[in-house]
Amino acid sequence: MSPLGDSPAERAAGLRSELERHNHAYYVLDAPTVPDAEYDRLFRALQELEAEHPELLTPDSPTQRVGGAPVPELHPVRHAVPMLSIRTETDITAAGALAFDARVRNALGLGAEDAPIEYGAELKFDGLAISLRYEQGALVRAATRGDGETGEDVTHNIRTMRQIPLRLSGLAPAVLEVRGEIYMRRDDFDALNARQAETGGKTFVNPRNAAAGAVRQLDPAIAARRPLSFFAYGLGEVVGWALPPSHWDVLNELARAGLPVCEHRARVAGPEALAAFHERIATLRPSLPYDIDGVVYKVDRLDLQRQLGFVTREPRWAVAHKYPAEEAVTRLLGIEVQVGRTGALTPVARLEPVFVGGVTVTNATLHNQDEIDRKDVRVGDFVIVRRAGDVIPEVVGPIARKEEVSRFDLLKEYPVCPVCGSHVVRGEDEAVARCTGGLFCPAQRKQALWHFASRRAMDIEGLGDKLLDQLVDLGLVKSPADLYSLDEACLAGLERMGQKSAENLRAAIERSKDTTLARFVYSLGIRNVGEATAKDLARHFGKLEALLAADEEALQRVPDVGPVVAASIRQFFLEEHNVQVVEALRQAGVHWPDLAPSAPVAGPLLGKTLVLTGTLPTLSRDEAKALIEQSGGKVAGSVSKKTDFLVAGAEAGSKLDKALALGITVLDEDALNQLLSE
Ligand code: IVH
Repeated sequence: MSPLGDSPAERAAGLRSELERHNHAYYVLDAPTVPDAEYDRLFRALQELEAEHPELLTPDSPTQRVGGAPVPELHPVRHAVPMLSIRTETDITAAGALAFDARVRNALGLGAEDAPIEYGAELKFDGLAISLRYEQGALVRAATRGDGETGEDVTHNIRTMRQIPLRLSGLAPAVLEVRGEIYMRRDDFDALNARQAETGGKTFVNPRNAAAGAVRQLDPAIAARRPLSFFAYGLGEVVGWALPPSHWDVLNELARAGLPVCEHRARVAGPEALAAFHERIATLRPSLPYDIDGVVYKVDRLDLQRQLGFVTREPRWAVAHKYPAEEAVTRLLGIEVQVGRTGALTPVARLEPVFVGGVTVTNATLHNQDEIDRKDVRVGDFVIVRRAGDVIPEVVGPIARKEEVSRFDLLKEYPVCPVCGSHVVRGEDEAVARCTGGLFCPAQRKQALWHFASRRAMDIEGLGDKLLDQLVDLGLVKSPADLYSLDEACLAGLERMGQKSAENLRAAIERSKDTTLARFVYSLGIRNVGEATAKDLARHFGKLEALLAADEEALQRVPDVGPVVAASIRQFFLEEHNVQVVEALRQAGVHWPDLAPSAPVAGPLLGKTLVLTGTLPTLSRDEAKALIEQSGGKVAGSVSKKTDFLVAGAEAGSKLDKALALGITVLDEDALNQLLSE
């Protein structure tokens, strides 16, 4: 900080450079140097000083970034040095780099014996070009590219971008025009769109459109709320600065002066190294936080650049080497649904085939009904399709509508599951619609069988995923009931199955017939019915018939069963297909002892709900659970207001925090034992 004896002008200058330094550390280097409060303090000190001495106020003061008045229109700006475009190498294989190098060598009259040429290799950002004019180190104008000769004055908006210094650090030539790309990061774009959707504003189709719209705003207050970023990649007019010898050095100097320069760049020699860069960045591309549509190669030595010059409006010394586009426009021919392993119905777009992300795409996900509504995508629309990396292609949104058709309504189009004909339901507050034919639906078969056979359900030892896959794929098992008619010969015929294992498996299947009502209910895989709820249901109703007959009101009388759980149980048993499977299982010989309904188990923990967390010193989780249940208590999976005790062992995590927050009594193993023996 400046000593107090300094003049107001000196203090203002000191505060400005300090604020600019912190700003740069925060917004460009992503490495904050002071706490926010300290920044705010300096900022306010400068504001006060400027208020006391209005003559000291300069346009490059950090206090002047926001608060400018809207402009009535965007004024044209003639570029002192035209903003060129780059030739695009359309061959996206390594040959693209070789062809460029060959052209450059040829133009320079170099032979095979001459040394390889040095290039700067960098990213081709997918945003919009901007020219920043600094005079004596202060930002005086920012202009868009326009037609290359004349752009538009967007200074009022660019000033709001914290990444762009209003004053360069240690560099103040008469004129320095910095050229670069304004872009929007994908995470910033997603957040912006979410905000827009929430406030009923318009959402944007991609980061580039969002960035372009923000830059051309008339009101800088709006632009200031759009999260823009910037990378410098070159120069325009320069007066009074001795240029460094190479492009590489130019970018280094710009970075030193406080401008953002992308870290993913390389200085390489020869075409093979260019091709290697192209390949390396292709792998990096999906994980970059912003979109790129290729890489750019530039002859590094500025004297060679001058020697090479231009053809029409493109420099001979630079080329863009593309990647397959991640987005393309095509027509939405129809909307179908896919049924997933858990019964979720996902709307899928059927598309006019389009080449995007390096492959031909004919289907893309529309995620769910809410997304379709939010984007207002309709059959027949021209839509943007995106496929980045290996992710599933998705429909981003419509860009043009040729005919007015009504909105797609999944539940109306698909009242029943397209795979099995069971009813489709969508729970309140749920984004996803689901098929209710869990036990019957072929799409859910593997998942249902796996759950049915699992240890805590029917406990069929030796019936793993691999075997289940074979049984289903060979058509031997369609529903859980079919498991009981598999004979040994049939099992022995499967891959990786000897006579002995077939015998064991057959015996395990047979053994599983002798079960409990709780296990049986749990094994049905009813949505929202876990082990604890299955036990509650069994205890409350005693007999399967009573459970089958229970309506939602009756179901909600079971402790811990609320409207959501009651609705999924009811939906499950209302689906005739599921009841048929339950019947078939009983016919196959699955049985359990009936219980007296709600027979109160006597014991010290009667009516108490406990939750287990962490590792207990001697008892395993299952042992603790069994002891609690024998004493009339119930073990739930998560802590809630209804929890009576939390039993916590070593390395207890968030459950312990939650229990403490709710004021629930926490027990260790000793305390639990004491309770049990009371
Ligand atoms: S250099 C004389 N470098 O691509 C060369 N341009 O057709 C002038 N772009 O819209 C441009 N990344 O905004 C250069 N690393 C990069 C670039 C880049 C993206 C854009 C530029 C312009 C287009 C050039």
